[in-house]
Amino acid sequence: MSKIYEALNRAESDLAGSAETMAKMMKPLRVSTNSEIPVQTPPLNETFHHELDFDQIREASWYPDLQALPAVSNRGGALEQFRGLRSHLQEFRDQKRIKTILVSSGLPQEGKSFVSANLAVSFARHKSTKVLLIDGDMRRSSLQKILGASATPGLSEYLSGEAELLDVVQRAKQVEPHVPLPKGLSSLAFIPAGGDAHNAAELSGSPRFAELLSHVGPLFDWIIVDSSPVNLVSDGVNLARHCDAALLVARGGVTEYKTAQRAVSELKASTILGFVLNAVSDHKSPARYYGYDNAATKA
Ligand SMILES: Nc1ncnc2c1ncn2[C@@H]1O[C@H](COP(=O)(O)OP(=O)(O)O)[C@@H](O)[C@H]1O
Ligand SMILES: [Mg+2]
Repeated sequence: MSKIYEALNRAESDLAGSAETMAKMMKPLRVSTNSEIPVQTPPLNETFHHELDFDQIREASWYPDLQALPAVSNRGGALEQFRGLRSHLQEFRDQKRIKTILVSSGLPQEGKSFVSANLAVSFARHKSTKVLLIDGDMRRSSLQKILGASATPGLSEYLSGEAELLDVVQRAKQVEPHVPLPKGLSSLAFIPAGGDAHNAAELSGSPRFAELLSHVGPLFDWIIVDSSPVNLVSDGVNLARHCDAALLVARGGVTEYKTAQRAVSELKASTILGFVLNAVSDHKSPARYYGYDNAATKA
């Protein structure tokens, strides 16, 4: 077993107990931006006028895990919290043109995939905005489980040149003719991570990632890229180079300050939008179930 896998396994088993408890409690999110981090805007992706159309995207049967996808449901604290995060990002967009956001954190189990999937759904359910969710964690992919979608072919096959764009991108198929897809799934497209890639670091540095983003860019309003933990492997940093910005996740009561600080420094070449403080409960806050805590955004 490689050192990287040993480190991932160790970090995962250290956090597994608390993660399980968090998952059961389904605690809300709080959003915090970090305005003190010096930001450098990478150039926006070139907009190639490719003839890709949403209807051309292959339909596939999805069986979403609704426990892990509270943003699909029509009520609940998590739905409100993701709505808060969404409007916060939309405000960022008013200041700076951002479309492709990499979601990352320092270590495994902090909630990167949970936040990526729910943020993508939250964007997509708002006025049927077209959203592409990409699973960029080619070592420990999990978005296919959350969406109940097929895992391959995906990003690793695309980056290695074994598959082309239309082979790897999928959207949910309407199962019953008279039952529309849940809000948030009908305008969502997904690129799974693909088969387990032992050469994920190398693949993530492929120029084909930039090419992929430039092809899909014109079709989507937002592109959310989930990633592997940046403190352990370089894949996330490689993918971030081609994204417009990065959003970091810290897990309440679990992520240590130095871990979060190290994640920021790993992504220092990217525009960091801020931290999502995931799985926290703030008993004092009356806004607990009605959007994010504004005080936290000034932290
Ligand atoms: N806010 C949350 N509420 C409930 N469960 C959560 C929350 N955030 C993460 N989880 C759960 O914790 C586990 C780890 O989260 P995940 O997103 O897979 O972490 P990462 O992608 O950073 O490794 C998953 O089972 C996920 O469903
Ligand atoms: Mg993950």
